[in-house]
Amino acid sequence: MDPRLAEEYLAPVDTARVWAEVDLDALAHNLTIIRSRAGAGVGIMLVVKADAYGHGAVAIAHHAVRCGVASLGVGTSCEALELRSAGLRVPILILGTVVDEEVPRVLRHGVEIGLHSFDRLHQLEREARRLGLQARVHINVDTGMGRLGVLPERALDLLQEVRRSEHVHLAGVMTHISSLAGNASPETTLQAKQFADVITTAQEAGIHCGRIHLANSTGLFSGLCPLYDTVRPGIAALGVLPETIPGGEDLHPVLSLRSQVVFLKDIPAGTPVGYGSTWRAPRQTRIATLPLGYNDGVPWNLSNRGTVLLAGQHAPIVGCVSMDYTTVDVGAIEGLCVGAVATLIGKQGAAQITVAEVARAAGTIPYEITCSVGKRVPRICVGGESPTLPSQVPTPACPPALVTPTARAVTAMERPSEPAPSKGARAHP
Ligand SMILES: Cc1ncc(COP(=O)(O)O)c(C=O)c1O
Repeated sequence: MDPRLAEEYLAPVDTARVWAEVDLDALAHNLTIIRSRAGAGVGIMLVVKADAYGHGAVAIAHHAVRCGVASLGVGTSCEALELRSAGLRVPILILGTVVDEEVPRVLRHGVEIGLHSFDRLHQLEREARRLGLQARVHINVDTGMGRLGVLPERALDLLQEVRRSEHVHLAGVMTHISSLAGNASPETTLQAKQFADVITTAQEAGIHCGRIHLANSTGLFSGLCPLYDTVRPGIAALGVLPETIPGGEDLHPVLSLRSQVVFLKDIPAGTPVGYGSTWRAPRQTRIATLPLGYNDGVPWNLSNRGTVLLAGQHAPIVGCVSMDYTTVDVGAIEGLCVGAVATLIGKQGAAQITVAEVARAAGTIPYEITCSVGKRVPRICVGGESPTLPSQVPTPACPPALVTPTARAVTAMERPSEPAPSKGARAHP
């Protein structure tokens, strides 16, 4: 075995039995790519819901803001308040919805709310008046997602009613794209057209829409246009994109999931391993036991299917993944000892296991893999000493065809917490 690998991965480690490494430099790099794709004057609302898809929302949000992200999107009021109490002062939008009881706290902390209905508008008006505050809302137009949002034909009425409201301020208008193929799908074209019609009608009626946004990661990387003045990526900032969308290879994965060997056992041929004895050693071999299981983010579906990196090599998971343990056939790896680092997601030497590969092997989507990294797994941030500021020239990683001609020159105009207006970027249809 390469002695450098041995030093790096076979040395006993003095750390947790399982940990998730969160690479803040990779996040900064991905934000640079996102910014260059979004183009001049288009602000980034980074979606950090579900604890930033399992990566740890507070650290991700803080570093993203240091890198010039203008606002944050979350799923629930608790997520928004967690970020506020961690000191984040940028606009935070609850992309989903709130329940009645949450409204006063949300208003007191200046959190923006996705608005879907007249009833909610009336409640916000009452509560904001009672508290002597302004509620800030983004009207969500349901152009095809079908779960939340006002239908396009009612959107203008809702916009008008917000305009008449004394205590509710229109901070934005949004829709959400349902297709996993982004701009390549005819449904997306239809959704974008319906959204554009709502925006045009509102503007013709003299309504100032605030921030206007529809593009998630897939939309952004598949060339959705126009992007208006804000984009709403989540997973791309974490270094993951569906394989069908070009550009994922330019992104750097933010998350690695690692553990260490806690037990090594030599077993004769025929020995069963794990619940249900679903695997029996076909020959004499050695089993490494890793102290993490499906409660920590190793999908049960990787039982007898996935691999783990040990000493820079792929070793097969054998037997069923259990709640706390995963067993690996390491018969082919020489010199392994207790304490060796195991990588379930991430790089070891030249070898790598990506989130997308794990998802494919487990029969699920990448989002579910990172969101499933369990509560008892400490998130350890690495890097982050040098945030990438919006004024820095983006890396030349994007295919030229997908970069707007002005993007490189004008990212310097983007201010850290507010998108600078630019005629080109606000090319509303
Ligand atoms: C309303 C909304 N916008 C944006 C996003 C970000 O999506 P993605 O992570 O695919 O970029 C999400 C995530 O599900 C969302 O619900």
